[in-house]
Amino acid sequence: MSNVYIKPTQEGWPEFIMRYPVKVKPLKGTNVDAFNKLLESDIRTAGDRLNQSTAAKCLMTRWDMDQHYDSFKKLGELVINLAKTMPLANATNENGDPRQYDYKVQDSWGLIYTKGQTCKPHQHWPHAWSFTYCVNACEDCAPLVFPDVNTEYSVKPQTGQLILWPAGLYHSVPEQECGHERIMAVGNLIVDWEKSVQSVTEYQLTPAPKGE
Ligand SMILES: [Fe+2]
Repeated sequence: MSNVYIKPTQEGWPEFIMRYPVKVKPLKGTNVDAFNKLLESDIRTAGDRLNQSTAAKCLMTRWDMDQHYDSFKKLGELVINLAKTMPLANATNENGDPRQYDYKVQDSWGLIYTKGQTCKPHQHWPHAWSFTYCVNACEDCAPLVFPDVNTEYSVKPQTGQLILWPAGLYHSVPEQECGHERIMAVGNLIVDWEKSVQSVTEYQLTPAPKGE
């Protein structure tokens, strides 16, 4: 896909070609439905806080949902476990032992898109990872689009689908054309430096989640 937006402050910047991991993972388990209902109800209870003042032109809750709702706290833990298995570079301690970066949720919020609503291209630097979890949507709902990629790349939503990507990547959501709501629980991770200095010999390497 060609770039469809202008980033005026970046004029003259060099362009780099790099590969980045975008992980798409359906949440599995017998209680995913109940988990989704809980997330949805917590998003509705929290309600709209931002009055469409950010890139997301839709209902957007407070940014610290993980501090107030167990459902978001649990989601954060799942995302951290996935992120820990996706290092972008090898890391070692001063003594040369391998180490694994650990993360914490810096912010998390809920989004409800209705027909006609969109989210402009934006990114979440300097956070480490960003995620969206699809609480309720169908495959015809608006996808998550990564515009800065050589070949067109977008991810169709599916209830129970988690998408995790390096936070500095631009992403957007085109117009929601379905007549029903598109509900997402999303957030950002930052590095937990205290936990990250422990070598993996004393702090076991987190294995990739089942189904990898
Ligand atoms: Fe975003």
